[in-house]
Amino acid sequence: MKQAATAVAPSNIAFVKYWGVRDAALTLPYNESISMNLDACSTTTTVTFDSSLNTDEVAIQWYGQPARPTAGRPYERVVAQLDRVRVRAGIQARASVVSANNFPADAGIASSAAGFAALTLAAASAAGLQLAERELSILTRQSGSGSACRSIPDGFVHWLNDGTDAGSYAVSVAPAGQWPIVDIVAVVDTSIKRVTSADNHVRVTSSPYFGVRLQEVPDRIKQTLRAIRDRDLSTLGAVCEADAVSLHVVAMTAVPPTFYWNSGTMAVVHALHRWRDEGLMAYFTMDAGANVHVICADADKADVDQRLRELPEVQWTIVNGPARGAYLVDPL
Ligand code: PMV
Repeated sequence: MKQAATAVAPSNIAFVKYWGVRDAALTLPYNESISMNLDACSTTTTVTFDSSLNTDEVAIQWYGQPARPTAGRPYERVVAQLDRVRVRAGIQARASVVSANNFPADAGIASSAAGFAALTLAAASAAGLQLAERELSILTRQSGSGSACRSIPDGFVHWLNDGTDAGSYAVSVAPAGQWPIVDIVAVVDTSIKRVTSADNHVRVTSSPYFGVRLQEVPDRIKQTLRAIRDRDLSTLGAVCEADAVSLHVVAMTAVPPTFYWNSGTMAVVHALHRWRDEGLMAYFTMDAGANVHVICADADKADVDQRLRELPEVQWTIVNGPARGAYLVDPL
């Protein structure tokens, strides 16, 4: 028996971020988050359940590189997610997983969001599961890459959270066409080391500022929902920057601390302040890394992109518009 399906899923950038896991087994976050799917950073994954296989096989291909078999912890995480799908579908067959990213491995873009969203949709479909979007988002969240659940719905996405497994899923708050804004990734660090978020999600409570962050987030969620509805870039920008700084303050004051930013990060932040003084509306946010995501209007993207590329600290950029969520395509 052979059953295959192929899915494409975008990466996403959070305006209000998920930082801290209350229940690591179920990947239940402490707080809600809001993101935008990214149209230039996606993963395409084919899952084939094949009863002639003795073991799961996983190969990942990065942009510009040949496909490589995956081993160790990344392999185990994929197998654990396949197991969740097998249990649900009542099947035993092992699977072959082939996954391709359209962005380079050293871009510092969280690939796990796109990767686990595409894996979950392809595996569920190949296993014959008919899941509603909410169920698919919950199953994707359970992969351990929480932010991946936000890559399932379309456009601008709200990860709801009532503290329960059934109440922690992502919904679209607006389609991709709602608002022509872009996220320009300014790459200032290409080291592959990647401090995994997993340890830091657990460590958050050791920071004295984590409680402060949790008190601030609900208001940021409200403001971000309003900003998306009203296409209010100055409000979105202020919230994005405040939330990113708060996440990094928590990381820097946790035990042990993590300092993600480097001098290139600060060079971009200072440049944005200078450009804003000149009237250019462009704002920063950073995930668990040094690279800066610059949010601005689509109409300003050529100008902002050129300015960013002229900074000596910026190695290259990736310009992303809003994107639809994960979808199935014909098997490769
Ligand atoms: O989903 P994870 O475990 O890769 O964690 C994502 C953490 C951030 O990217 C920093 C924030 C977010 O909400 O995407």
